Amino acid sequence: MLLEISDVLDKNKLENIRAMLDKVTYVDGKLTAGQAAQRVKNNQEMQHGSKQAEFLDHLVMSSLAEHAAFRSGALPYRVAQPVLARYTPGMQYGDHIDDPIMGTGPHKFRTDVSVTVFLNDPDEYQGGELIINTTFGDKAVKLPAGSAVMYPSTSVHRVTEVTQGERIVAVVWLQSMVRDAAKRELLYQLDQARNTLLNTKPQAEETKQVDRSYVNLVRMWSEV
Ligand code: NI
Repeated sequence: MLLEISDVLDKNKLENIRAMLDKVTYVDGKLTAGQAAQRVKNNQEMQHGSKQAEFLDHLVMSSLAEHAAFRSGALPYRVAQPVLARYTPGMQYGDHIDDPIMGTGPHKFRTDVSVTVFLNDPDEYQGGELIINTTFGDKAVKLPAGSAVMYPSTSVHRVTEVTQGERIVAVVWLQSMVRDAAKRELLYQLDQARNTLLNTKPQAEETKQVDRSYVNLVRMWSEV
């Protein structure tokens, strides 16, 4: 399931982020790429370790974690520190899949879901579409600042060349409580119906049945 999530970051947060972006240091993105991805990766990433980087990480992660659609679609278990990436003219990231395991030592986790949070608006750069290969063909994604897209980490994807301006995104990987993408999609859809029922018919018997079925399915399919 490819899920677009709007309003992960509100105007206030975006302004804070933009002000901070001018103060961070970028390094070559190849440094964090796996062997195969290195050959096709051409972008820059924010160097971790500074106060500004910590602030940005926290702002992006806490905003995602609070977002109901993100929680329902990803069912996050372990989440990595985000990577803030910048593409200037001539930069792109060719076809690749993300690393299966991230983190080190006891913080190792499997990547089930990849998330891209757009930090600047589509009219600020030319090119720079995120192309995700799905079972229904390639899907091009270029969203307003503050919105995000979520997709299974098993998907082949690429970022087309930026020809003008700058593309700035935060990328997040996570291990889901539910490993199987098809099961996550079913749970997401059932959760949508459940929320509608909880809002419109909170006392109805069918609401209770759908609610309990959802809760018990999460229990049945979760590994924690
Ligand atoms: Ni990727």
